[in-house]
Formats: sequence, C-alpha cells, structure tokens
Amino acid sequence: MLRKTFLLIFAFLLTWQVYAQVITSPDKNFSLTFQLNDNGEPTYQLTYKKKPVIRQSSLGLETKDAGSLAKGFTLANTEQATVDESWNPVWGEVKTIRNNYNEMAVTLKQEEPKSRTMVIRFRLFNDGLGFRYEFPAQPNLSYFVIKEEKTQFAMTGDHTAYWIPGDYDTQEYDYTTSKLSEIRGLMTASITENVSQTSFSPTGVQTSLMMKTDDGLYINLHEAALINFPVMHLNLDDMNMVFEAWLTPDARGDKGYVQAPASTPWRTVIVSDDARDILSSKMTYNLNEPSKIKDTSWIKPTKYVGVWWEMITGKSSWAYTDDYPAVQLGQTDYTKAKPNGKHGATTANVKRHIDFAAKHGFDAVLVEGWNQGWEDWFGNSKDYVFDFVTPYPDFNVQEVRDYAKSKGVKMIMHHETSSSVRNYERHLDTAYQFMKANGYDAVKSGYVGNILPRGENHYSQWIINHYQYALEKAADYKVMVNAHEAVRPTGIARTYPNLIGNESARGTEYQAFGGSKPNHVTVLPFTRLIGGPMDYTPGIFEMDLHNGSHVNSTLANQLALYLTMYSPLQMAADFPENYDKFPDAFQFIKDVAVDWDESKYLEAEPGAYITVARKAKHTGQWFLGSVGGNEARTSKIKFDFLEPGKNYIATIYADANDAHYKTNPQAYTIRKAVVTNKSNLAQFVAPGGGYAISFTEATKSQTKGIKRL
Ligand code: NOJ
Ligand code: CA
Repeated sequence: MLRKTFLLIFAFLLTWQVYAQVITSPDKNFSLTFQLNDNGEPTYQLTYKKKPVIRQSSLGLETKDAGSLAKGFTLANTEQATVDESWNPVWGEVKTIRNNYNEMAVTLKQEEPKSRTMVIRFRLFNDGLGFRYEFPAQPNLSYFVIKEEKTQFAMTGDHTAYWIPGDYDTQEYDYTTSKLSEIRGLMTASITENVSQTSFSPTGVQTSLMMKTDDGLYINLHEAALINFPVMHLNLDDMNMVFEAWLTPDARGDKGYVQAPASTPWRTVIVSDDARDILSSKMTYNLNEPSKIKDTSWIKPTKYVGVWWEMITGKSSWAYTDDYPAVQLGQTDYTKAKPNGKHGATTANVKRHIDFAAKHGFDAVLVEGWNQGWEDWFGNSKDYVFDFVTPYPDFNVQEVRDYAKSKGVKMIMHHETSSSVRNYERHLDTAYQFMKANGYDAVKSGYVGNILPRGENHYSQWIINHYQYALEKAADYKVMVNAHEAVRPTGIARTYPNLIGNESARGTEYQAFGGSKPNHVTVLPFTRLIGGPMDYTPGIFEMDLHNGSHVNSTLANQLALYLTMYSPLQMAADFPENYDKFPDAFQFIKDVAVDWDESKYLEAEPGAYITVARKAKHTGQWFLGSVGGNEARTSKIKFDFLEPGKNYIATIYADANDAHYKTNPQAYTIRKAVVTNKSNLAQFVAPGGGYAISFTEATKSQTKGIKRL
C-alpha cells in the first residue's frame, strides 16, 4: 500500500514536472505556474509569499467561426527571458520607472481539426502578473471572431471588493464595498441612473477591481494596453468565487474581430500585503509599448480653470437660446434667436477667466458651450449635432485667441461628440486644424449619450479603435487629449503621452448631480487610476451648490486631491469668485505642482485613507496630500522623505476640529511649522476631510519664532 502511494506521488510529480512550467518574480515573492490539464486546457495559478492568490484557473478563448482556443492543446515550446531596464516618462509621478520582470512564453499547438498555434506570454514583476494571448501569423488561423474569452481568476475566498457594476457604456458609478458573496444582492442598488448604461449580469463588475483578503492581501485585477480589442469586464461565479473575463460585445453581439498576427491586451493581477504598493505600482505602464511620439516637447502638464462648473451646477447653460426645441447645424439661424441670458461661453465671461488664469498663474482656460448645437445635443440619437468649428454669435474665436495670447494663457478646446462617433471622425481633421489656428493645444472630448452607430457600446472594439484613432490623429497635430466618457485607461499614455487625461469614472461633476460617497476619493486611486490619470476636476470651495446639491467633501479634502488624485492635468474647478473668498486656501492650488520626480505613498487603505508626498519636477519642492474616508481619523506620518540636514517650513492646510463634509465643510486651519526629515506629524482628518502641505526650504533665521514639529 505504502509502495503504491509512493509510486503514485512519484508519477504525479513526474507529470507535474513535465507539464507544469514555473517562473518566479525577480524578488522571488511571486510564483506563477502554467499547466495543461488532461484535456489540453491551459491553466495558471499564482502565489505571493507562498500564499495562493489565484487558484488554478482556466485560460483561452472560444471563437464564433474557428472553434475552441481553450482546449486540445499540447505544449510545443517554452521560452524564458529576464528584462531589467528603466525609462523616463514624459510626465508622471516619478522621474524614472524600472521595468523588471521574468517572462515565460508558452507556445501551444492544436492539431485537430487543423494545425494551429497560440502563445500565452506571462510576465512576472515584483508587483504582480501580466499575461496575454498571442496569435502568430499562420496558415490555419488568419481571421477569427471571438465568442467569449474564457480567462478565469479563481479567488481563494470571499474577499472584500471595492466595485462598480459591470456596464458596457458607463463607469460613472459610486463604489460599493462588500464581500464578493454580497455583490449579487447589492447590484440593483449600485446601478444608479446614467444617460447611457447597459449592465449585463447581477455579478458583473468592472476593472480595475480592487480587493482585500481576510488575511490582509491586496489584489487588483485590470488590463493593460487595450488596443484593437473590447474592454474586459469580470463576471463572478459567486458559488465558487471565480471571476471570468466578460468582453464587451459590439452591435451584433460579437466580442472582437482578430486578424493574426495579433495579441490581446494584458490581463493584470497586482498584489501586495501593503496597500501602498498597489498605488505605486507601474506595472500597467510597463506592459505598454514605449512612446511612439518622437518629439514630445509639446506635451505639457497643465493646471487650468474653465467656463464649466457654472454649467454643471445649473447656474448657466451650454446652449445659447431656449427658443428652439430642436436645431440643425447650417439651417438654424442663431442670429435670429433670443439669447437665454445665461449662456456661459460668452467672449466677456471667457476673458474674465483668462484674466483670472493670468493673475493666478494658471496655464490654460477651458471653454464649453462655445459652439452651435447644444440646444438638443443628446437623447435623440441624432447623427449630426456638432461640427466643432462654428461658434455661437456671442463667442468671438479670434478675439478670445488674441486676448489669451496677450495674457500668456493657453486655451483648451471642448469637443462634445454627443457620442455621434461617425460624425466626429468626419470632422476630426478640420476640427484639429481649427484648434491649431486658434491657439488651442489641448482638447477635452466627451461621449455623452448612446453611441452612434446605433447599437455600439462605449467599450466595444469598434469604439476602442475610435478613441485610439482620435488620440493618434491628435498626436499628428500635436494636440493633447483629455477624453471624458471614453474607455478607462490601461496605460496607453506610455505609448501616446498626449493622452494627458481621461474621465472614465465618477468625477466631481457628480457632486452636483446628488453627490458622491465621501470616501470615493480613497477608492479611485486603487481602481480607476491604476490605468492612468483622471481629470477629476477638484478644487471646489463652495459645497452648497446653485442647484441644491451638496459636495460631500471638506475644503481641505479638496486641496489634498491635487496630490492624491495624480494627474498631469489638474483643474481648479470652482468659480473665480469662490476662490476670491478664500485667498489663503487658494494659495495652495496656485502653488501645487502637476509633474513630479518622486512620489512616496505614506499611508493607504482603500475606502479609508491615502497620504502621499511628491517632489516637484524642475523646482524640487515637496508637497503632501492626505484624504480620509467616511469617518474622522488621525493621520500619523514621518517626514523622512525630506532631505537630511535641511530645515523646511511646512504650511499645513487642514480640517478644523469641528469640520465635517456635510455640516461644516469650509472649516479649515492654516498653520506653519518647522520640520526636518526627523519630524513626525499626527494630524486630525474630519469625516470626508483631508489635509495638504507645501514645504519650502528655509534658512535657520527664517525658521525663528515658528513652532518645530
Ligand atoms: C460630461 C463631462 O464629464 C462634463 O465634464 C462635460 O461638461 C459634459 N459632459 C458636457 O460635455
Ligand atoms: Ca462625465
């Protein structure tokens, strides 16, 4: 009996050795095992510090017209490689990014019905795993249509998840924190209204998905380098705690047209036992190709103000007139229309914003509602809404151009496409040329409403290709892009650094549409920001809005967002007159940098708090931001990131002791303290609150009379 058992174990180990392929991460913390099971189905599993993270999970795809690419494989070849290199992003949280991984590419062969090949490439970094499918050019697999991607992520338990509902058309949801087993029960309540939305499953969620295990492991599932492929959502089998990839279908229900040679985006699993590592991971960027833009000198991190919040809060309008229930470009004569008296984008109002930008050192001004067509811009499945070049009668493009130039301020163009994608593509060249001729180097684009061509989704392959087309064409014209309602980023900005922003999540605008949860901003960096920066549009100082909505945040929290919501594009979103009411707090927004050489995450817990210190590019000045969640807390940090032996004056903008996001959001204090890299801070953070610090190097005499920390 003993002998038999021994033989069995021996046989098992032998088979395991033959079929199981293992690689470890450079630091040996991760181990990835690839294995073909008896049916020739590819599988993988992942461990971190010897603990299982992903249980044995299936890999592969089912096609509509070329059979299964998920079984019947034999292992033809395995290749391993190690890469350790560094690169400097055009803009970013850090000056230099290390790209260090061990790679294994397994070549799989199917002989039946015809010989064909698929490669699965795994890259194991010190912060996690990326893998993708590759289809080399081959006689028997040139074109195919995907029915389903079968990639699984089998969890090891009923983890806590920070999730938003899976949806083919929007990401603008508040996050729900729950156990995986509770997703089904909470789904209906989590699907709040949006002008374009298509959910698909009671256990379907979006990536980037953040999770925490009961024993303190942080796991993030997402994708990298989403090019020419539909967005991957995740569908949970909540009996077994197994996620399966759920691709976004096109108008016909197809989930991707592939022509070999081709590769899918990378499927990513970022893992650590320290939540700060998830925030500082650069794995998603590392899985993208280096910049395809050779001369990047025209790509500039930007701090801006705009004619925007006044429309969002209902104080003014994008539309010029209320006279016409419907308009048609080229046929509607706006000179005969009665102005509604609250049009935001007038030459005078824009000039006022240019003056404000120039006075306070902002780089640029965004103007929305400047072009004809806003009277009925979405909701009617209208094909031809905007032409992106024809202004309303009260907006003088040339006058604004010359005025902005004279004040040294750049203009940011707005292209709301109303999701009429075909119409936008028709006008794109002319629109970018018009921008360049009139002093606009950046565009904020938008995709509100259901996509045209009708039946397509915001995240299906065809539309992914459109966003990419608009981005690459913009690069040809040296235009920077900030796309709203477009696909959430997957690190594409490494390859096209002119993608300086995206919305693709619930931004500050929702504070005017009923409010977001106070801890929203402690989740976004763990989810939405994993793939790239967000145009979150912080800086709201007046929390009680014109339309009756309330901003669920303290004023100090708003300041901290300039650090915790990393972006090379940052807006000061509130009205100039509201900044004029709080000049001392506004000083922080004026001072804070938008591009960094170093970033140090000091405290982090999804849903609860994030504290980060960053060192500005060019000036070397340090800034720090900390946001809290729903409850009050004390943030405890060390200033050991500062240079040893130097004295700094820290200006600390914090919640007052009685501050509260709901009842007392504008209660803040500003104090100065002398700090060195040996100093500590214990700082109160109110519910929905935060604090921000700017540091200036000081001589001994400058520190006299100021309290030391
Ligand atoms: C939604 C965008 O998120 C918002 O910023 C913009 O003002 C409106 N669409 C209008 O385009
Ligand atoms: Ca939006």
